[in-house]
Amino acid sequence: MTAAVAVVIESLRAGRPHFAVLPPLALYVHVPWCLKKCPYCDFNSHEARGEVPEDAYVDALVADLELALPAIWGRKVVSVFIGGGTPSLFSAAAIDRLLAAIRARVPLLPDAEITLEANPGTFERAKFAGYFGAGVNRLSLGIQSFDDRRLHALGRVHDADEARRAAEAALMIFGNVNFDLMYGLPDQTVADAEADLAAALAFAPPHLSFYQLTIEPNTLFHRYPPPLPDEDVAADIEGAVHARLAAAGYRHYETSAYARPGRECRHNLNYWQFGDYLGIGAGAHSKLSFADRIVRQVRCKQPKQYLERVGKGAPLAEDATVSRDDVGFEFMLNALRLTDGVRAALFEERTGFPLALVRRELAQAEARGLIDADPTLIRPTPLGRRFLNDLQALFLAERAVTPGAAPDPKR
Ligand SMILES: C[S@@+](CC[C@H](N)C(=O)[O-])C[C@H]1O[C@@H](n2cnc3c(N)ncnc32)[C@H](O)[C@@H]1O
Ligand code: SF4
Repeated sequence: MTAAVAVVIESLRAGRPHFAVLPPLALYVHVPWCLKKCPYCDFNSHEARGEVPEDAYVDALVADLELALPAIWGRKVVSVFIGGGTPSLFSAAAIDRLLAAIRARVPLLPDAEITLEANPGTFERAKFAGYFGAGVNRLSLGIQSFDDRRLHALGRVHDADEARRAAEAALMIFGNVNFDLMYGLPDQTVADAEADLAAALAFAPPHLSFYQLTIEPNTLFHRYPPPLPDEDVAADIEGAVHARLAAAGYRHYETSAYARPGRECRHNLNYWQFGDYLGIGAGAHSKLSFADRIVRQVRCKQPKQYLERVGKGAPLAEDATVSRDDVGFEFMLNALRLTDGVRAALFEERTGFPLALVRRELAQAEARGLIDADPTLIRPTPLGRRFLNDLQALFLAERAVTPGAAPDPKR
């Protein structure tokens, strides 16, 4: 037995993964402020009362990245996502300084996708052009709806006209644009949702994210629930949306994501394919692999505390190793969201454990018709996609984690 093989066997016996090659690495940057807190939102976003301290925050992000460098030493960064919150509250000069600082500290691939999330309520043409000049090459616009009544019911800071102007400018400046849209909105009918989607499709955006409005604990809507359409109407809306988007040439490549060919979000694909990501900024989550372990980290959530803690060189609020018992479920939570699933070999490449770790659960899923019988793929069947929570739960060994949503680096 060679020394290398002995190391692998020793790692696996000790319940540790073994990586010959580390997964691709993405960078997530969290901006934790918004003009106003939306009543349905449970993201780590805080109402900006007065000016946001953008200079101090960019300094903190750069310091945070420097503190994290030893954990990602020598690794190339395949994509950057500046999310929030509302990153478009920041000036183009601040985003330019941030991206220049990132480039100076990590090897960013020359064709890296660099996305910034923008709220139409913060739209200015010159600012969008400035982001593009700074290197942002994809804009994700939080449109939600093109219907003034729905936008009002959602407590959005913008109206449909502002959404249209932001969409037009974004497409002209960036070309590569995503619209975030929501359905199942208060009092929404199937015809309303179809009209809303038609308004979005009139812009022919390369990418659409389509989320059903969910009532999250610790939100205003949880305390004062709005009159949502019932389950049947929501299912009919979903059916109508899928059909309309397919007819318009969009591929439903992930539970909530639709893209024209070649316009899938590369940054999000890396999450769903269980790639690595370093998250910097208040409350940002990271998942990082090392030769013999995978760690998850969370930075301090409160912006003020985050700024203080970065100053002291200690921004982490949580730092834990992913156990062998959890890693199969975590992989499936992500991979099974993809319509095409993943190559079976990706399990070992990304978890550091042989596929045998989940062989029993895969057999159960196949027996119930929830995944394809192809041994070279892990791919949900149409039934598996419809009952995704049940499929994911098969991989959950007696643990108190709710299946459904994959871990989100910003929540
Ligand atoms: C963190 S937000 C960032 C975008 C930006 N802050 C905005 O809202 O304009 C990302 C997206 O998540 C979706 N989202 C947020 N809360 C949601 C909820 N409770 N149910 C469904 N989708 C939600 C919205 O579509 C939103 O655009
Ligand atoms: S939905 Fe977007 S704009 Fe609204 S509070 Fe959440 S992060 Fe901010």
